[in-house]
Order: sequence, then structure tokens, then C-alpha cells
Amino acid sequence: MKRIGLLTSGGDCQALNAAMRGVVKGLSENVDGLEVYGFLNGYKGLIYGNYRLLTSTDFSGILTKGGTILGSSRQPFKQMRVPDENGLDKVEAMKQTYYKLNLNCLVILGGNGTQKTANLLREEGLNIIHLPKTIDNDIYGTDVTFGFQSAINIATDAIDCIHTTAASHNRVFIVEVMGHKVGWLTLYAGIAGGADIILLPEIPYDVDKVVKAINKRTRAGKGFTILAVAEGAISKEDAALSKKEYKEKVAKREYPSVSYEIADRIMKEAGVEVRVTVPGHTQRGGSPCPYDRVLCTRLGAAAAKAIMDEDYGHMIAMVNGKTKRVPLGEVAGKLKMVEPGSQMIKEAKRTGISFGD
Ligand code: F6P
Repeated sequence: MKRIGLLTSGGDCQALNAAMRGVVKGLSENVDGLEVYGFLNGYKGLIYGNYRLLTSTDFSGILTKGGTILGSSRQPFKQMRVPDENGLDKVEAMKQTYYKLNLNCLVILGGNGTQKTANLLREEGLNIIHLPKTIDNDIYGTDVTFGFQSAINIATDAIDCIHTTAASHNRVFIVEVMGHKVGWLTLYAGIAGGADIILLPEIPYDVDKVVKAINKRTRAGKGFTILAVAEGAISKEDAALSKKEYKEKVAKREYPSVSYEIADRIMKEAGVEVRVTVPGHTQRGGSPCPYDRVLCTRLGAAAAKAIMDEDYGHMIAMVNGKTKRVPLGEVAGKLKMVEPGSQMIKEAKRTGISFGD
């Protein structure tokens, strides 16, 4: 008999349901007697005891379904130790819910912030398994996170569509890709979509270099240029500011996002027409791509095995094509960023892509 809890926290992504299905199928096929409690809207459900006993019907037909059947919410890690507006100790409340339901284990699906709280609950003595979700692919200790490939497909489609119209109108186009802290999604979609300039948070740009790259294309007879710009792309001047100064500057920014500021500077300095496209949350929407469905089925089945082995306190990662139990204490709080000197960046540069540095 196993009694497990499931929750999805943080920004959603495409393969959350596929991953939960993998865990539940992996257990129900191999364990006698299974009770699955789904906590609604992320950690909120665990804090306030808002849950539902799930049955096998809940997990039928959800392999291809985007979003999360449990709902999600952002509950910042920094606020977890801060009592709520009614003075409730959230960590204590989560433990009480867990103990009240007599759970063997809590399976938590989420990104970096979610993982930090998962680790906190582990330190508090709960049996935790974490599954690495995020379109940002920035979780340390796993080669890939689920949602990433599906989001690459969508962001690449956006760039592909821009290509045809950019060519017709001889314009410069910016496609803004999600990712405030890391640029994996922009890097992959940018290369896959044939972007000419890719700007990432990890490689501060110099707008003069960006303009130079556009002018070089114009001189070569190319009528248009496409930039893939991460939400968190940062100029060299801004990267030199302290964190506090930069935050203040962003708060006062008169542009809706960094891409509009870059567009304005390009228009002024290169005298060319620039348009901005922001696919935004479409990048997290729709069905998971086949790669993510397979990834989640494998991660889910590996999580089920860890639960059967009663081996808790791990993130179930994918490393060199194999699922792996990675101790949460070793990875929580670490970010996997794009290395500016990596082989991939060097290869992209060799093909003529400018990173504005
Ligand atoms: O972490 C996933 C992510 O989609 C980021 O890429 C993006 O910057 C952020 O979430 C958007 O957050 P929200 O959905 O809260 O606006």
C-alpha cells in the first residue's frame, strides 16, 4: 500500500500532466493498493489542506494535455518562512497536511523556486521526490527539464513565421523569447530558427556590436535581420551596475520590455525599421511535444521506482540519456546557465551568429 501526494508549483509548462501520469502509472502497475492525493494550485493546496483524492480516470487521456490538472501558483521560496496574513506558519501547515494524510511521499513538480521549497520540506523530515519542470531548462543537475523542448518548438515556429514577413518587407525583427535569468530557450530557438543575432542574459550585449552585425548583413545584400532576444538580455552598461541599481533602472524603464528598448536603439543608431514580436505565454501552452512525452514518461516511471524503493530526497534527473536520482541537497538553489565560452556558443559564432558581445 502506498499513499502519495502530488503537486505542481510555479509557472506551468506543457508536460506536467504527462509526468504525473508517468508516476501514477508506474506505481499503479506495480504496487498493491495506491492512494493519490492531488494538492490544488501548488504549495497553496498543501498549506491550506486543499486537495482531492485522485482516481485512475484522472490520469487517463492526459499524456497529450498541456497545463496541469492540479492547477499551479507561484509561492516564492523567500516567503515560505514568513507567516501568512493570518499568522499561519506555512511550513508547519504543510507538514501537518502531510502527516494528517499519512503520506509515504510527496511528489513535487516544478522549477528552481519549487525545488528550494521541496528541499526545505525534505530538511523538515518529509519524504520528497522532485521532478524538474521548466521551459527555461535552468535546473542544475539534469541535462534537460520537461517543457523545454515543447517551448523550443513554439519559439522556433514564431521565428520561422517572422522570417517570411521580414524578408518581404526588408525589416529588422526582434522575437522576444522567455527566460529572465537564463538564455537556453533563446539560444536553441534562435539557432533552430536561423536568427542572425541572439542576445542572452549570460552574454551582455553592446548595442554598437548589434548595429554592426545588422550593417554587415545589409552590406552583404541581405534585406532583413532577425534577432532572438531573451527577456533577460542585458547590455554591457547595465551588467556593470549593482543588482540594486539594475532593478531600480528596470522599474523605471519606459519600454514594456527589453526588446522594445533594443529596437529603439537600433532604429536610432542604424536608421532602419524594427518590429518586435513577443510570443509570451504561448511558449508554455499547448500539448507537449513527443520528446517531452517520452521524457516525462521515463522520469515518472523512474520516480515511481524510487518511491517503491523508499529512496526519497531526490530530484529525478536525466543525465547522459539515463534517469538518475540526484540528492536534492546537492542541487537546490543552483542555476544551470549558458556558458559564454561553451562549444555550442563557439559553434554558433562560427556560423556567423552574433551574440552582440
Ligand atoms: O519560469 C518559466 C517562465 O515562463 C519564464 O520563462 C518567464 O520569464 C516566467 O516564467 C513568466 O512568469 P509568469 O507566468 O509568472 O508571468
